[in-house]
Amino acid sequence: MKIKAPKGTRDILPEDIGKWRYIEEKYNEICDIFGYSEIRIPTFENTQVFIRGVGDTTDIVQKEMYTFPDKAGRSITLRPEGTAGVARSFVENGMGSLPSPVKLFYNITAFRYENVQKGRYREFRQLGLEAFGSKNPAIDAEIISLVCRFFDSLGIKDACVKINSIGCPVCRPEYNKNLKEFLSSQIEGMCPQCSERMDKNPLRVIDCKEIECKRITEKAPALIDNLCGECKEHFDILQDELVNIGIEYEIDKNIVRGLDYYTKTVFEFVSENVGTQGTICGGGRYDGLIEQFGGPPTPGIGFALGMERLLMEIEAREISFPSCEKKAIFLAFADKAGEKEAKKICFDLRCNSIKVQTDSMNRSLKSQIKFADKAGYNYLCVIGETEIKSKSVSIKDMQTKEIREIGISDLCKLKYNNRGDIIWPKD
Ligand code: HAM
Repeated sequence: MKIKAPKGTRDILPEDIGKWRYIEEKYNEICDIFGYSEIRIPTFENTQVFIRGVGDTTDIVQKEMYTFPDKAGRSITLRPEGTAGVARSFVENGMGSLPSPVKLFYNITAFRYENVQKGRYREFRQLGLEAFGSKNPAIDAEIISLVCRFFDSLGIKDACVKINSIGCPVCRPEYNKNLKEFLSSQIEGMCPQCSERMDKNPLRVIDCKEIECKRITEKAPALIDNLCGECKEHFDILQDELVNIGIEYEIDKNIVRGLDYYTKTVFEFVSENVGTQGTICGGGRYDGLIEQFGGPPTPGIGFALGMERLLMEIEAREISFPSCEKKAIFLAFADKAGEKEAKKICFDLRCNSIKVQTDSMNRSLKSQIKFADKAGYNYLCVIGETEIKSKSVSIKDMQTKEIREIGISDLCKLKYNNRGDIIWPKD
């Protein structure tokens, strides 16, 4: 019986990897330009990291975590997201003593036991980043502008961010009280999970995806209309900053995000091309998170973007990326002497960073040539006693069928230009 990949996981096959690499390289490049350094965190953490970080009333912690005891009985969880792990690492590695803001980006796999559907998987990839140490709304705007720049660099020119503010420990308790009062009168119509968590964290009901809950919360009071002075000022300055740098935005009172650590700014980039939830990228400020991990009071803000959803958006828009695939040579050999020489040249060329292969399947010369054609090599070169004696070979361009003569010593010195094309000696 054939074993299949687990539900909600996907193979990324060689034919698709070019797109992934292109996007990841663009992301690395843009993060570098904006002053972010890469961090790599563990795939699994002690479960407490997420209970404390993400919050025990969230869908993620209540329903979606891959949690198991390890062989020594410790509770381990596969990371459902990156922020909690990065915050844990920030505190554990004393990054609070570094000059602020500390700007970190990441490219991770994440795991959530979700109902699998379009754009929603159980293993997925996130490109994300976190900035620690700045309370200034300018950094909120800078992060949003980074996402816009990233989208723009991929050909998504009209991305519009939706922003909201979900307050802070000063204004949220009063709002929660009002919201609870509003919701208590509607408890019959609520989904069982919300009627249970409503008391502890009524904001989660606003984020609930169940239709009945959505209908109820449509008329609920909005946090943005009940912000304290500091949060209101933060939100106003954020908007000024976005206008100043020319970033288009919309205010969406319904964005509360599905994780408990957020304070003040929250934002999302949505699209109808990426499944029912439609969020490609989500993020926000979390000014209390570092303290929850035992660190000094340190504001923070970040986002994460789902790679699979980003690719769905790119496909829906029929965006194609320039290929930076390096041209490859197949060195076929005609006889024993040619085989020896081909293996040697092959190694020399590889040391010179040229993509090249020889036969390793004991194929006849005819089959080697057929293989080179079928496998899509760009150039074919045949080596045998004659070529060794004349110290030169002919190279066939498999697409144009053009043939060029080149000395074996020149062959070993070939180089690429920055588009991955071979620079030929006479070029
Ligand atoms: P999140 O909204 O839970 O936020 O996830 C961020 C992005 O990950 C989503 O917008 C979506 O594109 C992608 N995503 C989430 N779940 C799935 C899934 N099951 N299948 C495919 N893609 C998915 C966070 O994770 C926060 N840590 C973001 C953040 C960073 N906030 C501050 N810093």
